[in-house]
Amino acid sequence: MSDRSHSDRDLDRTIAQHRQQFSSLLGKQYFNYGGQGPMSDRALKTLTDAQQRIQREGPFAGAVNQWLQAEGHETRSAIAQALGAMPETITLTENVTVGCNIPLWGLPWQSGDHILIGDCEHPGVIAAVEEIARRYDLTISTCALSDLLKGADPVAVIQSELRLNTRLVILSHILWNTGQLLPLKEIVDVCHANAPQTRVLVDAAQSVGSLPLDQPGWQLPETGVDFYAFTGHKWWCGPAGAGGLYIRPEVLEETAPTFIGWRGISVDENGKPTGWTPDGRRFEVATSDYGLWGALRKSMELQADWGNSAKRYERICVLSKRLWEGLRSLSSVKCLLETAPPPSGLVSFQLIDANHQPMADLQVEIVKQLETEKIYLRTLESPKCIRACVHYLSLASEIDSLIERIREVAAKV
Ligand SMILES: Cc1ncc(COP(=O)(O)O)c(C=O)c1O
Repeated sequence: MSDRSHSDRDLDRTIAQHRQQFSSLLGKQYFNYGGQGPMSDRALKTLTDAQQRIQREGPFAGAVNQWLQAEGHETRSAIAQALGAMPETITLTENVTVGCNIPLWGLPWQSGDHILIGDCEHPGVIAAVEEIARRYDLTISTCALSDLLKGADPVAVIQSELRLNTRLVILSHILWNTGQLLPLKEIVDVCHANAPQTRVLVDAAQSVGSLPLDQPGWQLPETGVDFYAFTGHKWWCGPAGAGGLYIRPEVLEETAPTFIGWRGISVDENGKPTGWTPDGRRFEVATSDYGLWGALRKSMELQADWGNSAKRYERICVLSKRLWEGLRSLSSVKCLLETAPPPSGLVSFQLIDANHQPMADLQVEIVKQLETEKIYLRTLESPKCIRACVHYLSLASEIDSLIERIREVAAKV
C-alpha cells in the first residue's frame, strides 16, 4: 500500500471520528459547504437550549436581557479573534448581504462618484449596487476578474480600472465561481493609493471559516481592508441567520447607519437618543434571533477542537487538489482552473461536448440526479458549471467516490 493511501486513511479516521458529531452528514456525500455548511449536533443543541432558556427565564426579563448582552459581546469577541481583529470592529448581522448593504447605503455618496465592482460578484450584491447608483446618481464599472482564468494579474486588472473619483471597490476575497483567492493586501494597497476617498468592500462569503484569517499575514487589520462582510452559515457550519461585518476603525465615522434602532444608539437618563454606540454595534438595529449567537460560537469552537485555522485550511487545499486532479484526468470534464488547483475548497468544472463547450442543461440534470443519490453539488450560471465544495470535514474516500461517479456520468456524454 502506498504512503499516500496510508496517510489518507489515518487522516480520514480522525475526521470520521470528528464527524460523528454531525448527524447532518450521515448517509450523504455533501459538497455544498459554500452554499451552507451542515450544523453539528452540539451547535443545534446550543441553539435549542438558548431558546428554551429565554422562554424559561423570561422571555423578557432583566436576567435574560443581561445574558443576551453578554452573548452579543462574546460573539463579537469570538468572531474578532477569528479575523485577527478587535471586538469593537465587528457588527453582528444576519448574513453576507446585510453586511454588504451597510457600507453600500452608509457611505456619504456624492453625485458622480464611481463604484468599481468585480465581474464575479453575487447577484444580490450587484442588485444593491445598481439601486444605489440609480438613487444617488453614481457610475458603476466592472473589472474583469474572470480574466484571472486566462492568467491575468488581479492587482493589475483592478488598478487599471480605478478612477480619480472611485469611491468604492467591491470584490470577493475568494471568487465564488472559480475558487480563486485574491491577494487582498496588494489590492487594498493600490486602491488606497488611488485616492484618499477610495474604500474597499469585500464579500467574504467564501473566505470566512475557510481561510486562516487569525494567522499572521492574513489578519484583517494587516490587509487594510475597509469593510469585510461574512456569514457563519457557510464554512463555519453555523446556524443560518448569524453573520457579521468588520469595519476598519478609521472608516467607522464616515459610514452612517441606515437602518436604526435601540441596539445601535446611546440614550440619556430620560431614554432619549444621544448618538451612536461608539463601535460596530451602531449598525445592529433591534430585536433579533439572539439564540443563534451561541450556536455560531459552538460551531466555531468545534472546528477549533479538530485543528486550528491553518491546519483546517491546509486540509481543505489538500482535498481540493485531490478532487481537481481527479476531475482533470477525466475526458469530457474541464476544470475552470486549468493550470493549478484552487487555493480554496471550491472546485468548479464543466461537462464538455466534442467542441469543448459546456453542456449546461446536462449539468443541471446531473446535479439533480446526483441529489437523488444523496450526493450534493450545485450548478452555477456564470460560467455555466458544476461546483463541488470540499471542507476540512470532507473525507478523501468521499472525494474519490465523487470522482468515480463523475467519471461514470462523463463516460456517457
Ligand atoms: C459570494 C457570495 N456572496 C453572497 C452570498 C449570499 O450570502 P448570504 O445569504 O449570507 O447573504 C453568497 C451565498 O451563496 C455568496 O456565495
